[in-house]
Amino acid sequence: MHQPPMTMHTVALAHALFLFAIAGATRASAQSPSPAPPSGISFCLLSNGVTNFSLPTSPSYTPLLDSSIRNLRFELPSVGKPAAVVLPSTKRDLQRAVLCARATSLAIRVRSGGHSYEGLSYTTENHVPFVVIDLSNLNHVDVDTGTATAWVESGATLGEVYHAVGLSNRTLAFSAGSCATVGMGGHTAGGGFGLLSRKFGLAADNVLDAVFIAPNGSSFTRDTMDDDVFWAIRGGGGGSWGVVYAWKLRLVPVPDNVTVFSVARSGPVELIAGLMHRWQYVGPSLPDEFYLSTLIPARSSSDGNISMSFTGQVLGPKQLAMSVLNQSFPELGLAESELSEVSWLESAVKFAGVSSVASLTNRQPGVGEYAKRKSDYVQAPISMQDTIRIVQYLLTGPAGSSIQLDPYGGAMARIGSTDTPFPHRAGYLYSIQYAVTWNASDMDRSDGYVEWLRSFYAFMASYVSKNPRAAYVNYLDLDLGTNDWMNATGGTSNGSVEHAASWGERYFLMNFDRLVQAKTKVDPGNVFNNAQSIPPLYFR
Ligand code: FDA
Repeated sequence: MHQPPMTMHTVALAHALFLFAIAGATRASAQSPSPAPPSGISFCLLSNGVTNFSLPTSPSYTPLLDSSIRNLRFELPSVGKPAAVVLPSTKRDLQRAVLCARATSLAIRVRSGGHSYEGLSYTTENHVPFVVIDLSNLNHVDVDTGTATAWVESGATLGEVYHAVGLSNRTLAFSAGSCATVGMGGHTAGGGFGLLSRKFGLAADNVLDAVFIAPNGSSFTRDTMDDDVFWAIRGGGGGSWGVVYAWKLRLVPVPDNVTVFSVARSGPVELIAGLMHRWQYVGPSLPDEFYLSTLIPARSSSDGNISMSFTGQVLGPKQLAMSVLNQSFPELGLAESELSEVSWLESAVKFAGVSSVASLTNRQPGVGEYAKRKSDYVQAPISMQDTIRIVQYLLTGPAGSSIQLDPYGGAMARIGSTDTPFPHRAGYLYSIQYAVTWNASDMDRSDGYVEWLRSFYAFMASYVSKNPRAAYVNYLDLDLGTNDWMNATGGTSNGSVEHAASWGERYFLMNFDRLVQAKTKVDPGNVFNNAQSIPPLYFR
């Protein structure tokens, strides 16, 4: 799927629809702020040849809306529902869906994989009426092994990308996250960290080109796009700029076989804290070919022991893995029998937790979960005494809580902190992801679980990055602040940018200002917004 630059025909079409849309939008806002009835969007879509959509009255609506909702907190009846779910089948459908949403004064929520931690691809603030543009039918992956590149539509999942890339050539791969049902659209827009990132960087670092649909419906590629916008869409977070229809990706070389392992170690608090403490010196400074993360759940067995797991991938044979890891991390006591050599594609199956290569393309997220997550970055190793305190605090948490530590260093540290909006590069040792999950049967205790997570996060303040306390935009956390938009579009005001800096500077540090510039260029009317989107500058 090689995307040609926009043709004259598409320019004219976009222009015509734009005029129609703006006229409609102006009429709607002049009349009253009340939501456009669903028939408005339905009439617009049908008159523009977009037939694949579902309205709340349709039996397909709820299954379709819920199909990729990963965090069940946002499936509850109290959460506002969209006026329609549109499933574009072509780029043209997508452009027209954007224009129809504008023409009918509906906020736009673009959904690729639906894995937003805060449900931002299918909810709005303050019950602002909205439409979901679901890209799940735009999931084509076209691999070119000759140039080691791929054009990927944004609705493709990571599993679909890995499947296509790995089957095309055993020694080609793509650097992105591990969960197979995460969507390329949201993941790449926010960075995209995974097991190859210490060697090759984030998903966003490997984007060569993109087809971008701007708020006025026009389509751009890298050659025709403003430089700030091409920079912003590669890590500046989803939902702020327009819609990325497709990405051109750089594929990366991997050996015929990689070494993989997932091992558990258990023992008393001091032993687990000792392994975590030592890991801080090892994980971020291993050779680039090594990935070693660790996860500690807040559970102890009846004998008081707790357990932690280590996930490893080495771009090389077992012998290399054994010699390097046993020298740098003898405390882990890795045995050769714990390691396997598999193709990179089989390693993707293992780390996605799916049963086979074929099931990488299964888009169903399986049993969803109720969850709240937060993130931090560590820039200096935490002392052994403090690590013991951290593990002890973790053990006060509910059964479904955990911390995951992901190692940076390697290529992550060599890529410049302003090359893309993702700024956590040199000097960032590792990220921490705090999680608490629960089942439907625990709903009445969920507020307490979330409060516990917040108190743990508060406890961690002195051990992590400061001024600002950094966070990863793909581990979205609305506790850091929200825009509080009241309208479908145009809600920016004099203080909006300053207000958004409270989370924007945590996600993007010094890059926040350039993101505001990019937003002001591409979307001054704030058509693409969400609870933590980048606002444009306000001009009277
Ligand atoms: P979703 O469709 O919900 O979109 C997320 C945001 O991007 C929304 O604001 C949406 O509007 C916007 N958006 C979506 N498509 C767009 C498009 N085409 N153009 C413009 N904006 C668009 N992260 C990581 O770095 N490494 C990892 O290993 C994992 N693992 C992981 C596992 C699980 C189970 C979950 C739930 C999440 C992760 N993540 C992760 C986090 C993940 O990268 C993050 O939630 C992504 O935003 C999800 O992208 P989706 O397209 O699935 O989400």
